[in-house]
Amino acid sequence: MPETYDLIVIGSGPGGYVCAIRAAQLGLKTAVVEKRATYGGTCLNVGCIPSKALLHASEMFEQAGHSFGDLGIKVKPELDLAGMLGHKDKVVKANVEGVAFLFKKNKIDGYQGTGRILEAGKVEVTSEKGDSQVLETKAVVIATGSDSAPLPGVTVDERRVVSSTGALSLPEVPKKLIVVGAGIIGLELGSVWRRLGAEVRVVEFLDRILPGMDDDVAKQAQRLFKRQGIDFRLSTKVTGVRSEKKGLRVAVEPVSGGDAETFDADIVLVAIGRRPFTEGLGLEEAGIATDERGRVKIDADFRTNVEGVYAIGDVVAGPMLAHKAEDEGTAVAEILAGQKGHVNYGVIPSVVYTDPEIAVVGRSEEELKEAGIAYRVGKFPFMANGRARAMGATEGFVKVLAEEKTDRVLGVHILGRGAGEMIHEAAVLMEFSGSAEDLARTCHAHPTMSEAVREAAMAAWFKPVHI
Ligand code: FAD
Ligand code: NAI
Repeated sequence: MPETYDLIVIGSGPGGYVCAIRAAQLGLKTAVVEKRATYGGTCLNVGCIPSKALLHASEMFEQAGHSFGDLGIKVKPELDLAGMLGHKDKVVKANVEGVAFLFKKNKIDGYQGTGRILEAGKVEVTSEKGDSQVLETKAVVIATGSDSAPLPGVTVDERRVVSSTGALSLPEVPKKLIVVGAGIIGLELGSVWRRLGAEVRVVEFLDRILPGMDDDVAKQAQRLFKRQGIDFRLSTKVTGVRSEKKGLRVAVEPVSGGDAETFDADIVLVAIGRRPFTEGLGLEEAGIATDERGRVKIDADFRTNVEGVYAIGDVVAGPMLAHKAEDEGTAVAEILAGQKGHVNYGVIPSVVYTDPEIAVVGRSEEELKEAGIAYRVGKFPFMANGRARAMGATEGFVKVLAEEKTDRVLGVHILGRGAGEMIHEAAVLMEFSGSAEDLARTCHAHPTMSEAVREAAMAAWFKPVHI
């Protein structure tokens, strides 16, 4: 007799593992199928977690070398790259083992192998050795995530031409690193290797960095990253990467036409976006519809066009973020358990973990203009914040966008140290449809960086005090 489940989740990334845990908590007999040797998906194995471990460690290294002196601390740091990579690996191990522990605790069955949907209610699991078994289930959630997008004509070997995965494990600091794409991965991993000593040049197709983020914030961030030593080549495309004995030759040319150039590099990081991963899932044979970008099509309740098959996370439309996948995982588990699961897509924060960090929730000025919504802007620089001065973290600002007519906060953008932690008071405020006045009248502890958030809200509603 084949095993029978209430729910089989295919993929154990933040979407899949959170979905499985919540489903088990709600009483569903649940199994997870994962083809990787460890649970946790892209995020825990080769994404969010290892990149943040290296971002933190390299930031400490840079601060020790460049800004401890301003605080009256004399040190001469020495890089132990193997030790730093070891720290990253330890952090990953602890996190993926944590997921395995949670599965056990919640009595979730784990199957290692590639999951394939044979038809509604039937999932075949094939192990790496080639053995397969068929599991039966009332519902299937596809949570197979995404993979890095290829650059036509450029072969990623994960040694000299790398994706983010290779860039998380370079055995030596490259002398010259060329990053293709000024998106989140390019800026985060470009920052890591620059801090450790690489000369970093970022080649971006568009005329700006961080497309989709508020213009004001992206421009100021670019100025700061340039000052830190990153060279940006905007409106430029990479036309080829040639491997030579000594290194790589990267051919580029302006997007609008003009003279071609070549740059030398030891390592090229291709970070031009990610695409949904559905290989081997059997979507076509099972008749599960995808959109023009290969994402699994779902309705508002995460249902695909095939009865009993749902999908969440990077493999469906929306921002490719771990916490978006997690929230969808929770919502679909609640729906399957007969509750009303829901995700508020208007209030999903996004953080770029550079120094300073960039954090946003809600809409940008450009989006409000395009939607024809009248708004007020309140801005406050960290330069005027006492705690920021005490910490030597005066770069950046907070920007609050509030609807002109109602004062309701529609977007908050923070460029500054610790922005990724500060953004959440704005997220909570926006979940409750709060106004700039609500935020401005909320007492904030002194001295904190968060007082700048309050002051920006004061500026949007009436007037700030400290500037
Ligand atoms: P994934 O995490 O991709 O997990 C999918 C899993 O499904 C994988 O383990 C895969 O092996 C498995 N799988 C696929 N097909 C099958 C199959 N047929 N059978 C069995 N298993 C299968 N997001 C953030 O929010 N914050 C960050 O700081 C952040 N940093 C990132 C840094 C990097 C370098 C990268 C690459 C991404 C980062 N992301 C970050 C994005 C984040 O990793 C993804 O949004 C998130 O992992 C998506 O979760 P998911 O569950 O949809 O898919
Ligand atoms: P991205 O979409 O953030 O940025 C890709 C960049 O590459 C864009 O600026 C784009 O214009 C540019 N580009 C595209 N084609 C190009 C070409 N041929 N030549 C030069 N530039 C080109 O994608 P990225 O950085 O690869 O990250 C993928 C996703 O992973 C992110 O969008 C995000 O969803 C997720 N992520 C999230 C993180 C976080 O939350 N801190 C960290 C890392 C990744």
